[in-house]
Order: sequence, then C-alpha cells, then structure tokens
Amino acid sequence: MTDELETYLATTADRRLASYLEFLRIPSISGQPEYAGACREAAEWVAGQLTSMGVEHVEVAETGGHPVVYGDWLHAPGAPTVIVYGHYDVQPVDPIELWETAPFEPFVKGDRVIGRGSSDDKGQIHIHLRATEAILATRGALPVNLRFVFEGEEESSSVHLDAWLEANRERLTADLAVISDSGFFDGNRPAITVGLRGICSVQVDVRTTAVDLHSGSFGGAVQNPANALAQIIAALKGPDGRIRVPGFYDDVVALTETDRAAFAALPFDEDEYRTALGLPALVGEAGYSTLERRGSRPTLDVNGIWGGFQGAGSKTIIPAHAHAKISCRLVVDQEPSTIFELLRAFVLEVAPPGCSVEVQDLGGGRPSLTAIDHPATEAAARALEATFGAAPLYIREGGSIPVCASFETILGLPVVLLGFTPPDDNAHAPNESMSLPNHETAIRTVASYWDELARLPR
Ligand code: BES
Ligand code: ZN
Repeated sequence: MTDELETYLATTADRRLASYLEFLRIPSISGQPEYAGACREAAEWVAGQLTSMGVEHVEVAETGGHPVVYGDWLHAPGAPTVIVYGHYDVQPVDPIELWETAPFEPFVKGDRVIGRGSSDDKGQIHIHLRATEAILATRGALPVNLRFVFEGEEESSSVHLDAWLEANRERLTADLAVISDSGFFDGNRPAITVGLRGICSVQVDVRTTAVDLHSGSFGGAVQNPANALAQIIAALKGPDGRIRVPGFYDDVVALTETDRAAFAALPFDEDEYRTALGLPALVGEAGYSTLERRGSRPTLDVNGIWGGFQGAGSKTIIPAHAHAKISCRLVVDQEPSTIFELLRAFVLEVAPPGCSVEVQDLGGGRPSLTAIDHPATEAAARALEATFGAAPLYIREGGSIPVCASFETILGLPVVLLGFTPPDDNAHAPNESMSLPNHETAIRTVASYWDELARLPR
C-alpha cells in the first residue's frame, strides 16, 4: 500500500460511503419480474461508475435476462489478466416486517451499513469499483489487466450467464477469475473459499380436481393432493439423513483423509453454533461432522410448501392442488441436470395414485472445488494477511455460485474466491449489513492483491 493510495482513500471516505449507499438504493431483485427495471438501472449505474474512472469498452450487455456489465482495462503489458466477477442483483426482502428500516433505504448504524445487498453482493462490487478508481486516480495505471464481469442473475441461478460466456469466449481471454461473492468463516478472521456446493431447484405440483371438494362428501373416496405431496416428500429422505433418490450419490466424490483433517482443523465449536441458532439439536447425514455435512455433502430441503386452506379457523375441504419448492445442494461431481432427472423420476415413481404430479426444473448450478496451492490463491492469502492482519482460513462453503464452475469449464480459468463478508452480515436475511471497516480494508486488500499478482513470475 503506497502512501499516496492511503492518502487518496483517507480523503475520499465520505464520497465513497455516499456512492455505496446510492448503489444500495436501487432495488435490483432479480427473481421478481416487477424489479426488472431496477436491475437494469443497477447495471447502468455500475457501467457509469466504470466509465467515469477510466475503464474502457464498458457495455451493458444483453443476455435475454438481466444484463451483464462488462468493461476492461488492458494496459499492463506482460502482467496477468484477471476477470473480476460480482453480482449486482439481490435477494427478495421478505420478511419485510423484521427490517429496522426499509431494505432499500440503507443507513449507517454504528460502524455498519444496513441494507439489502450491502454484503451480498453490491458491497463487494463496490469494493472493486473503489479500489480500481483509487489506483487509477493515484498511479494512472493498474498493475494488472482487468476485465470486469458483473452479472444480474446470480440470485436466480445465473440462467443466462453461461450462454453469454460462451458467446464472448474470445474476448474474455484471461489468466484468472476472481470472484468476490463469498465470505469469512468465523468472527473477522479472513477466509478463502475453496469449495462451493452446486444446486438443483425444482417445484412439485400435485393436482386432482378443478376445484376444492367438500371433505365430508368426498373424503375417503378421492386422493388429497396435500396428503399425496406429504407422502412424496417423506419418501425423499430417510431417518439417517440419506437422500433416497436412486443414483443420487453415484457421482459424489468421497472425502479424503486430508479433506476430513482440514474440516476438523477449523476453529468450530459445535455447541456454540447450535446455541447461537437456538436449536435443541443439530441433525444431518449419519457419519459426517457438522462442517462436513455443510461444506461437502449433498442435501435435499423443502424451501416452501403450500396448498389448501391457510386462513384462521377450519375449512372442511380437500384441496384441488398442493405444491412444494425443493432444492438439493450438490457436491463435485454431481451434475444438476442429471440430479433433476433422477429426482423427477423418483417423485413420479413414489407419487400415490389418483392425482397428477408434475416436476418443474427451477434452475441449477454446478459445484466446484478450487486449488488451495495455486500461486494466485497464495497471492490472495498474502494480500489478506497484509491488510486484515491474519492469515486466511481455507474453507468449503455450503452456498453456491454457479459461475465458478462456468469460469473453469467454459473459459478454462483457475478461480480465486476472494470474499469479505463474515457470517454475521446476515446475507439473504432481514437487516443484511456490512461492516464499514471491512469494506474499507477490503479495498486495500484488492489493491494489494493486484500488486501481488503483478509480482508473480510469469
Ligand atoms: N453469495 C452467495 C453464495 C455464498 C453463500 C458464498 C455463502 C459463500 C457463502 C450467493 O449470492 C448466493 O446466495 N447464491 C445462491 C445461488 C442460487 C440461487 C443458485 C445460493 O447459494 O443460494
Ligand atoms: Zn451473492
């Protein structure tokens, strides 16, 4: 960190906070169609920022869904070229009543910024924007070549991104992709994520008659879709926590002794974790520790279930239909499309008679494991240690970032997951936040990382 950069950052802190809050005010929820305009507005905002700091070829690129923002700065001959990825879309805000103030009216409380997207992932895009701006403003040049790829559909399974990457393969030549959309493990000790789970999301729709029936007049004679759905869901998982879909585990790569030792070495107090969640017990697949279950084993969870009468009091009906959203977290080498077919076939097989059952594919993403010993990962570790004052932990995350596998397979790039949000930032939850000291330190980490990468032997 040069004195010049430090002085620039110190004198522009107010402006930086203002631009962070401005970005968070745009309600770019990718999953809800009524916010499509806001997603475009967020993309335009990011593009405007890139242009004004001197990034070139800035484009709000059409994808068939929410646009990708692209821009590059390629004037560091001989230095590595890095794709920097983040997502400007955010999760929905429900349950809105649990927010301290409106989710898109961000505010500073103590040393935190509270607002949807403050950490996942607009805050992390903002870190990159401000780091780039500060380096260009003070040095007139970056130490590495950067290509920014900021998408707007990550929280909706990045449905259109792979096609865009395929179509732009030629211009996306690079040495490395850096994804800033992950976080720390515990407290404020930095972490580098080296494993992400994949995902396969489905909706199961069970239907019988055109309208609800009187449960006295018809009960006993016809199938009840809600009961049928419960039967289907109950068949999916055993009491041992194992998923009963035939073939589900066929492609799962087993943990090695080294993998298990790495999980066991993480600072983790199971009792503390359980108590903080307010739970009487932790549950999961037999034979695995909590961290292994969460970071390296596949799951199947109902995300939502509905049908029939939901109001106060009772209503004696047999509902005409019932529905569930179900998602599986996947691990290497499970393929979301294969898992979808296996799951669909099994649901149809265990479905009781007397109803129609449909299984819709709601999207997916592939799992990934990235290299701990890659020079670019080691350089990231040095940058984190230099700025956060502690060496990073290496963790496998239970969450999913579909583009990680796509960078590896479509563009053939190594990936470094350089993220900055501790678990108490409440990503996806009410009162999502980011600590301003972390936001500020992370800007310095990014600057230091580009210097570290530029120093690597080619
Ligand atoms: N930032 C998260 C992914 C993540 C979560 C990384 C926890 C590290 C730790 C990302 O924005 C996210 O939530 N992804 C979705 C993807 C899904 C909708 C395809 C997820 O994991 O649910
Ligand atoms: Zn995210």
